[in-house]
Amino acid sequence: MARVLVVTYTQSGQLEEIVTHVLAALRGQVELVVEQLKPIPDYPFPWSGIDFYDAMPESVEMIPSKLAPFQFNTDDHYDLIILGYPIWFLSPPIPITTFLKSKEAAKVMKNTSVLTVIGCRNMWVNAQEDIKRMIAGNGGKLVGNITFRDRHNNLLSVVTIIYWMGTGKKERYLGLFPKPGVSDEDIANAAKFGAPVLEAIKSGDFNGLQEKLIALKAVELDPNVISTENKGKKIFKIWSKFVLKKGKSGDPARITRLNLFKYYLLFVIFIVSPLVSLVFYLTYPLFYRRIKSKIKYYQSVSLK
Ligand SMILES: Cc1cc2nc3c(=O)[nH]c(=O)nc-3n(C[C@H](O)[C@H](O)[C@H](O)COP(=O)(O)O)c2cc1C
Repeated sequence: MARVLVVTYTQSGQLEEIVTHVLAALRGQVELVVEQLKPIPDYPFPWSGIDFYDAMPESVEMIPSKLAPFQFNTDDHYDLIILGYPIWFLSPPIPITTFLKSKEAAKVMKNTSVLTVIGCRNMWVNAQEDIKRMIAGNGGKLVGNITFRDRHNNLLSVVTIIYWMGTGKKERYLGLFPKPGVSDEDIANAAKFGAPVLEAIKSGDFNGLQEKLIALKAVELDPNVISTENKGKKIFKIWSKFVLKKGKSGDPARITRLNLFKYYLLFVIFIVSPLVSLVFYLTYPLFYRRIKSKIKYYQSVSLK
């Protein structure tokens, strides 16, 4: 029987629910070894106050933290590693970075195929580029990527995620806003991605898997969101270095700069980004070909 290692990190359980549906077709067909990453100490959920923003510098700079010892056997060979993760500040969440930078991950990923499963708000392409580089650095081979996002308008999804992250309740804010996060329907339909993944595992041939997943709409991208995200990641890198100058995670000396970042972020999201989007759509025809080729690249498993 083929053996598959499933490594996940989730706070609310959303990512776990997504991965459970993706794995439905694999159950009973392959041996599944599940590793749920446990940070030490755990990150708060729901988040309160400045803690949320305090996760930004280490996420963006990909500074590893601590995890509970892994349960999986690093001496085993796996036919596929499935890595399921949310996004933190356009970057891999700290627990996933910590895993990917561990000696255990380096050992288990060497010459092994990897499939990523993302559950986020709507901005994941920069984090996936970081993840691609870390997988390649471990000698692994990315063979597929399946993404899940909130399909609502960008600003609406910001309001609803702030409510969800601050209360822990994945429900409609004030009974007026849409439900936050990945929709129940998209989570229920996640099972459709299992068939091509199982076929690839059984044949041992992962070539062409990503094309099959794309045909099933595993990677849908909004060009305006990509453009906003790419600008955002460059600016986050400036902020992360600015905050890190004041100390490590949890250092009270960082609070003033984190508060500045918080207000900057809210200003950019609600005031600047709608204007930037307007300019984007007005100039869209001029950059059509460049945008199309970017989308093709972000949908792929290749690394530039
Ligand atoms: C600290 C933090 C930062 C986040 N930043 C982003 C982001 O940049 N892009 C995005 O699409 N989602 C972002 N999210 C939402 C997550 O990707 C994810 O959808 C949500 O946290 C639920 O994941 P869970 O399965 O861990 O509960 C962020 C969440 C947290 C907690």
